[in-house]
Amino acid sequence: MQANGTTPSGKLIPIAYSPEWMALREHTKEIQKLHLKDLLVEEERTDQLIREHNGLYVDFSRQNMTDTTLQLLLNLAERAKLRTKMNAMFGGQHINGTEDRAVLHTALRAPRDARILVDGVDVVPGVWEVLDKIKDFSEKVRSGEWRGVSGKPLTNVVAIGIGGSYLGPAFVHTALQFDEGCKAEARGRRLRFLANVDPVDVAKALHELDPETTMVVVISKTFTTTETMLNARTVRTWLTTELAQLGYKKEDTVARHMVAVSTNLKLVEEFGIEPENAFGFWDWVGGRYSVTSAVGIVPLALQYGFEKTHDFLRGAHDIDVHFRDAPFECNIPVLMGLVSIWNSTFLARSSVAVLPYCQALSKFPAHIQQVAMESLGKQVSADGEPLSFKAGEIYFGEPGTNGQHSFYQLIHQGRMVPAEFIGTIKSQQSVYLRGESVSNHDELMCNFFAQADALAVGKSSEELRAEGVPEAYIPHKTFSGNRPSTSILLPCINPYTVGQLLALYEARVATQGFVWGINAYDQWGVELGKVLATRVRETMSEARTRNRKVDVTDGYNPSTRKMINRYLGGKAQLLYPEPRDVFPCDLIHSEGCNVYEQDEAAAAEA
Ligand code: F6P
Repeated sequence: MQANGTTPSGKLIPIAYSPEWMALREHTKEIQKLHLKDLLVEEERTDQLIREHNGLYVDFSRQNMTDTTLQLLLNLAERAKLRTKMNAMFGGQHINGTEDRAVLHTALRAPRDARILVDGVDVVPGVWEVLDKIKDFSEKVRSGEWRGVSGKPLTNVVAIGIGGSYLGPAFVHTALQFDEGCKAEARGRRLRFLANVDPVDVAKALHELDPETTMVVVISKTFTTTETMLNARTVRTWLTTELAQLGYKKEDTVARHMVAVSTNLKLVEEFGIEPENAFGFWDWVGGRYSVTSAVGIVPLALQYGFEKTHDFLRGAHDIDVHFRDAPFECNIPVLMGLVSIWNSTFLARSSVAVLPYCQALSKFPAHIQQVAMESLGKQVSADGEPLSFKAGEIYFGEPGTNGQHSFYQLIHQGRMVPAEFIGTIKSQQSVYLRGESVSNHDELMCNFFAQADALAVGKSSEELRAEGVPEAYIPHKTFSGNRPSTSILLPCINPYTVGQLLALYEARVATQGFVWGINAYDQWGVELGKVLATRVRETMSEARTRNRKVDVTDGYNPSTRKMINRYLGGKAQLLYPEPRDVFPCDLIHSEGCNVYEQDEAAAAEA
């Protein structure tokens, strides 16, 4: 290998064959000799492993690492050309090779006077053109200047979308719902999400909504996602049929009650939504990175007003700048990414538990699950070479303390699961009962502090014996400790800090992708299932129309064939009749209902 990390023939050496990688492998032997309960008493080490940035306080001292580990990880980042790759991303280069796209969600939160070029064109004016349009639109809806077709103000919003077109906006909405300022802005308004194609989710989203006061935002980057488009057609039918009963024309209802967010404005128009009621974004925004585009900003601005939503963008921008400019040794997302690589690649810990001690962040783990797993779950390097290590981790999480009463048993005494505790100094809600020794939020945070130490320090058999625990119970009650975690303490949860938290995790995932040398911005792994579902849909429709069973000529394996037949048979024979109260026959699908009526008659005859 040459000094610049290439072979004599000029090919890039895979990162896993670099001396820096080998050094980390070797270093694991040293680390395995150390226990966190000993490391944690070192004041100097603790100080060396705490980082702060603009209100964020991040403590890495409960990671199985020393200053040598940190240095070796920073060396690996150098070897992986992390800085060069970050610059390429921020500079608008097409780093998403398989889709030939730039990756510039950071431009979505850039200030108006920034200049960011993609293919020689400054994208910032376009970003702000859309933001200004959202501001204008949301103010009109919120003030009642824009009304429903019958003249009533639109106080309910149903946002239809899935994956990145749902998880991010839903996480931010949940985080802001009980923020004092946001709550005041949202008074009298309701925001709901419809993601799953399960009709129960439709029923839930529309439950007790008045179509006269309901605005629907169809959110889909591609405007082809099957689930979203079926849900959009379903809700359009609900709106237009209900309002037709009051004498309003379909086109007028759609024009006043439906808007769209997409990069595919042609399909939006074909769906029946006028271009002036559509909010665009760009192919350089990945779906899972789109919450700071119109995808999140339209529903959030409708609910909380544009100013609050802009604070969210400001928070995200703050971390973007920190990620772009801070030296790696004090760059929080870079360090989080490197620590993740250390845990997963070198210490063979395949999962990450995201544990917000904060109910407002209850949907954060689900959002980060998509950001991390859809980005990093790859089998080949960015140039298509099989990886000699496993990239990506299994993300899961629940808010504390709920998670403690659920899966923490496993992370204390079962598998090694690196945990990320997220807590706040200020609660969105103060409850401090007279006579109680601590406030309710103190109680929550006591658990935040205690759990990290329980994992790290553990409890030895000697300690148990000293407490008089009977010998037979000692193996059951012992905690090995030495289990890693990072603690993130935020001042509070408000639009700004939610933006910071979002960008922190996005940048951490970027770091991992760059160091592992994979493309964290494509998602080919989701395609096969979609193709197979299309085939099943065709078979199901055809078999039902012809009233026949699926047979060997349809080409399914016996297992799938039998299950589909069991399903179709169960439906046709009305073995499990389904309620239709949200969409009664006369309202929605009279032909389908006739089919059912025939089925019912046939079943009765039988
Ligand atoms: O199926 C995965 C995916 O493509 C995600 O990447 C994306 O967030 C989601 O589907 C929804 O896509 P769209 O916004 O185009 O409807």
